[in-house]
Amino acid sequence: MTTTPTDRTDRDRTATRLLRSSAEHSYDPEVEIDWEAPFVPGKYFVPPHRSSLYGTALWDRMSEEQRIELTRHEVASIAGLGVWFETILMQLLIREYFKQDPTAPHAQYALTEIGDECRHSVMFGRMIARLDAPLYQPTGVNQWLGKWIAHTGVGPRMYAAILIAEEILDTLQREAMNDENVQPLVRMVSRIHVVEEARHVRYAREELARQIRAAGKGRLAFDKLVIGRAAYLTGTRLIDPRVYQAVGLDPEEGRRAARANPHHRETMRWAGDRIVTFLKDLDLIGGPGTALWHASGLLPRTA
Ligand SMILES: [Fe+2]
Ligand SMILES: [Fe+2]
Repeated sequence: MTTTPTDRTDRDRTATRLLRSSAEHSYDPEVEIDWEAPFVPGKYFVPPHRSSLYGTALWDRMSEEQRIELTRHEVASIAGLGVWFETILMQLLIREYFKQDPTAPHAQYALTEIGDECRHSVMFGRMIARLDAPLYQPTGVNQWLGKWIAHTGVGPRMYAAILIAEEILDTLQREAMNDENVQPLVRMVSRIHVVEEARHVRYAREELARQIRAAGKGRLAFDKLVIGRAAYLTGTRLIDPRVYQAVGLDPEEGRRAARANPHHRETMRWAGDRIVTFLKDLDLIGGPGTALWHASGLLPRTA
């Protein structure tokens, strides 16, 4: 894949802006967050209408306390997947950085983004511990695929997979940070993440678009398959079925109820909307990845 001198200039111009923004707007969760503050009684951990069981018969049977408890595990599940993706991303970025000229702003920004992700993963890890929830992370074949992409991910599939996770999380967190029904700790973690992730999304979107321009048509079939698999994993594992067990429900019954829940389906489509539109415009949704995208629950109803 070759890039033009214009691409290189453009790349470094964006990186220079992002480096400046990183210097001005970076947060240390260790000092910004009051980790000792008690949880506020009666407040949810994700906006209640975003709970995977909201509006189902199971939800109706649950007490208010149980519903809040479910959202505590749901936010832990989202954060667990977040840390998992960030750990993959840090490995990918450090390898990309190693191939580049360390005097170039584009390379320096990759390293700066790794710095952001280091703080985020500490923050998410600390939040999961503070929530007193289990670590919900992909297992089995998903875990294996994560290790595989961490070791081999390059080019469009690397940037697209990163963006799927970042943009879905970002949409959920933008809403949570402004919702007064949500626990202050979750709102603060969301706010810090949203501010810093805006840079990451910009960096990855521009780089992905450049790489697609440089790639020949028809050479992206394998990338489309990997991207579809990343979408499938994110869509189906954002809420780990073990969260239902944690609140006294049968995990399989909970998973089935969530999958059939029109509110939850709508939440997933809403969370996927921005990244789906972007990847569609780049013609990255389709080919051998089509079935996986459909099964991910992230596509709009008409697709
Ligand atoms: Fe992050
Ligand atoms: Fe990020």
